[in-house]
Amino acid sequence: MLETQHAQARQFHADQASKDTANLADPLTLKSGTVLRNRICKASMNEALATPDGKVTDAHTSLYDVWADSGASLLITGNMMVDGKHMNEPLVVDALLDTNMDQLRKWAATGRRTNTHIWPQLNHPGKQSPKMVNDAPVAPSVVPIPNEMFAPPRELTDSEIEEIIDRFAEAAGRLQEAGFTGVQLHGAHGYLIGQFLSPHHNRREDKWGGSFDNRFRFVEEVYKRVRERTGEGFNVAIKINSSDFQKGGFTEADSIEVARRLDRLGIDLIEISGGSWENPVNRKGKQEVKKESTIKREAYFLEYAEKVKSQISTPLVVTGGFRSSAGMRQALASGAIDMAGVARPFAVDPKFGTHVLENPNHVSPVAPIKSGLKKIDAMAIMEISWYTLQIERISQGKKIQKKADGVWPALRVIYRFWKNGKAVKRVRA
Ligand SMILES: Cc1cc2nc3c(=O)[nH]c(=O)nc-3n(C[C@H](O)[C@H](O)[C@H](O)COP(=O)(O)O)c2cc1C
Repeated sequence: MLETQHAQARQFHADQASKDTANLADPLTLKSGTVLRNRICKASMNEALATPDGKVTDAHTSLYDVWADSGASLLITGNMMVDGKHMNEPLVVDALLDTNMDQLRKWAATGRRTNTHIWPQLNHPGKQSPKMVNDAPVAPSVVPIPNEMFAPPRELTDSEIEEIIDRFAEAAGRLQEAGFTGVQLHGAHGYLIGQFLSPHHNRREDKWGGSFDNRFRFVEEVYKRVRERTGEGFNVAIKINSSDFQKGGFTEADSIEVARRLDRLGIDLIEISGGSWENPVNRKGKQEVKKESTIKREAYFLEYAEKVKSQISTPLVVTGGFRSSAGMRQALASGAIDMAGVARPFAVDPKFGTHVLENPNHVSPVAPIKSGLKKIDAMAIMEISWYTLQIERISQGKKIQKKADGVWPALRVIYRFWKNGKAVKRVRA
């Protein structure tokens, strides 16, 4: 019976994918049978609202209670860690902390009132785990990040890799038990899944490295074990880079092949993004200004999306750069995407989705935030921290602040980062 429903949903989706255009308010049926009520997705933003040891707090529930009314049909949470010893930033959630279950249930429940799906994003940062929270990061191979914020990584053993894969599966299972309707695997922005996929970062000569098949094995196993643990009706999505924009690294052709294989394996939604700490394209806004046509089309990765969309049946979300109702409508109408992913505008306007749906001329006021200090701006720390602060204010029912450029706000931001990092190290000691 359930099988027939899934088969019908798959057929429905294939028919839908062959339609050229969609409107922002149209529902989207996924392979799982889930129907998202419109085409707006709030993309993942680290909330930084957990305790230093990774506990979910009441602030998560308050925040998602507000975002349940945002107008987006799908809310991807900030990244949660599958191993609390390996965090990408301070104050992220440890998805496998036993004591988190009650709070996770409350969090998952916030979406039900408005038929909004909430999917936690699962991540292992690998070597992109800064010294401030981790002195002993791990990676597929010993290829250090050329930035003093990160300690050189240690190479993972085969059994450690197996254990991490199991952690992804166990975390997804627990989140399903807590009431979430899906999870998103973080395969973008240079974290562990991306490190395995990249020939630059993955120099292994065993079954986890070398050929494309071997580099793909980690994400393939993560997907399969998550699916095995959660079953067919549960949504499993992934966020991947269109490319790492790095010489000898993960290319656009690699990215398309990853999407094709995950499509065949049955993944429910693919989100396209780009960049990493070494090369933060989507936060810094460097590569995206290369082409005239890309500027006109608002979002950064639409040209790539067009290429990949013709080769897969899994619905596609593109995130990065969407700011206006017109830009989002145009991208959907072009047939390049099935859903528009939006992050920063939801941090300065918790009803951004509703505004976009109701007003064809709506434009978000977000603009780049710069300290004027080259090193700081290259790492996009100001951007991340300023938006994180606004997210905290939303959770507290406070007003959004005025945008703050310059050196003093940058120093305040760095102090905050440093203080939170210290707190993480204290609870570990
Ligand atoms: C404060 C902040 C936190 C973020 N945290 C995450 C994260 O946890 N996981 C992730 O995949 N992307 C994260 N991102 C990136 C966004 O999901 C998105 O890809 C990026 O901001 C580009 O989209 P936008 O132009 O709509 O903001 C974060 C972005 C911001 C601003």
